[in-house]
Amino acid sequence: MDKISVKVCVGTTCFVMGGASLQELNDIIPKKYGDKVEIAASNCLGLCSINWEYSKAPYVKVNEEVVANATTEKVLEEIDRQLGI
Ligand code: FES
Repeated sequence: MDKISVKVCVGTTCFVMGGASLQELNDIIPKKYGDKVEIAASNCLGLCSINWEYSKAPYVKVNEEVVANATTEKVLEEIDRQLGI
């Protein structure tokens, strides 16, 4: 199975809207999933500007799936869903 790719947006909007707390994923993901999941920080994913007023930042992408209003729990749930756990 291909690795799951997690991209945590660290653009300004996402960072300010709560993305800072997603940094804990950098510790949790390798411990929980080993090399099945790869995590990287990403510059603005271009999602926050689609509708600024209703921006659902912070955004995280798990493969091609966008997690809006991302929290650590929501990201882990999406990874589990894609892994079929
Ligand atoms: S700053 Fe995160 S999508 Fe733009």
